[in-house]
Amino acid sequence: MTVHIGAKPGEIADTVLMPGDPYRAKWVAETFLENATCVNEVRGMLGFTGTWRGQRVTVQGSGMGMPSLSIYANELIRDYGAQTLIRIGSCGGMQTDVGIRDVILAMTASTLSTPSRGIFRELNFAPSADWSLLQAAATAAQGMEIPTHIGGIYSSDVFYDERPDLTEQMTRHGILGVEMETAELYILAARHKVRALAVLTVSDHLLTHEALPSEDRERSFGDMVEIALRAAFPGA
Ligand code: HPA
Repeated sequence: MTVHIGAKPGEIADTVLMPGDPYRAKWVAETFLENATCVNEVRGMLGFTGTWRGQRVTVQGSGMGMPSLSIYANELIRDYGAQTLIRIGSCGGMQTDVGIRDVILAMTASTLSTPSRGIFRELNFAPSADWSLLQAAATAAQGMEIPTHIGGIYSSDVFYDERPDLTEQMTRHGILGVEMETAELYILAARHKVRALAVLTVSDHLLTHEALPSEDRERSFGDMVEIALRAAFPGA
């Protein structure tokens, strides 16, 4: 047990999928995993461990934003020995050729600030994905014929952003989408020498103001989970 995760030693798998929403963790466990058991209920941030194609996997909610994700990722890595962490979540599209429902594989995550900012001070560290996971996810997405973009994303501290100028500059510099968790995940993975990737679905669009209809959300989310699992276990 840790401060925020009630799982007993050994109840967390080496591979952890991390949706922001704890109810998504439950849905993933019910939809994709066999023999899934609930391993965390602390603060309602549900976590489940089961198997996918015979491979042991945990799905643990991260909450929204980097301070929340940082707590769960730190404890998963440092206390439970997690080796591979894949964020599965939604993002806002920031390029005209990035459509609603498309998948983004985040090669890098630019950010103004993360909970790790204090370590780096004046240095602009470049948080980046694990190459083996990124490559495996790209192969999986190609095989599933899902429109997929690979490139930089922006990890913001705010959903209700009052900096349209910043959005403009991000778009101008080719950033594909915005979300609120990945930069800190990548920094923690680098620090602790584990693997991380973010697989994201475009749920809304900052330029076109389109949004994914609620009835489509589940299917898009399912595609993303499938890509994440195939990336984690390429031979399975
Ligand atoms: N901004 C920040 N985070 C998000 C967004 C957004 O537009 N969409 C999904 N996650």
